[in-house]
Amino acid sequence: MNGTCPLDPADLTRVLRPREEAEPLPARAYLDPAVLDWEREHFFESSWVCVGREEDAPQPGDVFTAEVGRESVLLVRGQDGCLRGFFNVCQHRGTRLVTDEACSAPGHIICPYHSWTYGLDGRLLAAQHMAGARGFDRASIGLAPVPTEALAGWVFVNVTATAGPLLEYLGNFPARIDRFGVESLRRAGRREYVAAANWKILSENYQECYHCPTIHPELTRVTPYRSGGRDEESLGPWVGGPMDLAEGCNTMSISGVTERDPIPGLPEEDRSRVFYYSLLPNLWISLHPDYVMTHSVCPLEPGRTRIVCEWLFPEPVVTAAGFDPGDAIEFWDLVNGQDWRACERVQLGIGSRGFSGGRFSDLEGTIHTLAALFARSYLEGRIASVPEIRLTREGEAEKAGRWPASV
Ligand code: FES
Ligand SMILES: [Fe+2]
Repeated sequence: MNGTCPLDPADLTRVLRPREEAEPLPARAYLDPAVLDWEREHFFESSWVCVGREEDAPQPGDVFTAEVGRESVLLVRGQDGCLRGFFNVCQHRGTRLVTDEACSAPGHIICPYHSWTYGLDGRLLAAQHMAGARGFDRASIGLAPVPTEALAGWVFVNVTATAGPLLEYLGNFPARIDRFGVESLRRAGRREYVAAANWKILSENYQECYHCPTIHPELTRVTPYRSGGRDEESLGPWVGGPMDLAEGCNTMSISGVTERDPIPGLPEEDRSRVFYYSLLPNLWISLHPDYVMTHSVCPLEPGRTRIVCEWLFPEPVVTAAGFDPGDAIEFWDLVNGQDWRACERVQLGIGSRGFSGGRFSDLEGTIHTLAALFARSYLEGRIASVPEIRLTREGEAEKAGRWPASV
């Protein structure tokens, strides 16, 4: 058990009960700056966090930056074609090297303070007027590397280098999306949002459709709100599963209908479903018959979160004459806004002394699993996996004599 977590273990244990008896995370988890500081260190810096797509830096010298926990990370495409991650800090006096979200560094990265110059592989190539610095060995100095790996075109970093190989971290998740060929998809849209809600309130909202009939009339027309809840077996830090499209619909848009072909090779049964996955800590992936969409979340404050949405389509679709992803983008932009407003209301109310803590409805099994993943992660001091919460709940259920009725 991790003794430094600022949440009360007794509150977390109540989340880990079978869903029928469980309680949500305590309100402090969504409100307290000390909790967010702790999460930045233990959830974001210590795990594999998605920072973008390979196509964000297609050419040698292309650079993009990402905030991960309390760190800024620099992703640099080398002359050898390899994408490398580095801490975004100069080894001379600690200057942040790149402040833009993306830029091009033709051949080298020059510190904007005293012009120490680094190669695209991170080695220090030039440092003027250092002859008098005893023991200064330019050849042994370079940008500090950050473990960087890719899955299906998404780039992940682990700034503490303690999360093990990415594929081990993800468990059985990669096999769940293989057939969508996400690596070959290209981005055709990007929207950035800031919502006045905690990142976990937004994450939990993403994994339930109990709210859909109330706030999403357009979404409810193209996907029956009760068609979710069929969670796939997770052996990793992820939750999710499919929802069905309504009769006659073949995509998620206002009309629910598109003339775009499904993603090449997609089996027939996947052409009338949408899959929603949450990969802890920060990536939500929705796989539609004809496109893949992601939300990536970055906490700014306990009650403020940046969300970046991207829409990916097959490359031949993107480059075809007349291609217009507007139906997919505008639809999700509308739904996002409905979700952010709902989550902002939760943020406003959840700290009230008049709120007694809540329970999980019959349509909130997935967010119970997600909340239990968070609870287990607080207790362990690192992002946990679903099998670990199952073990916990089995212990609870033995006492209650009814496991595994609820999952
Ligand atoms: S701080 Fe970078 S060169 Fe001085
Ligand atoms: Fe929603």
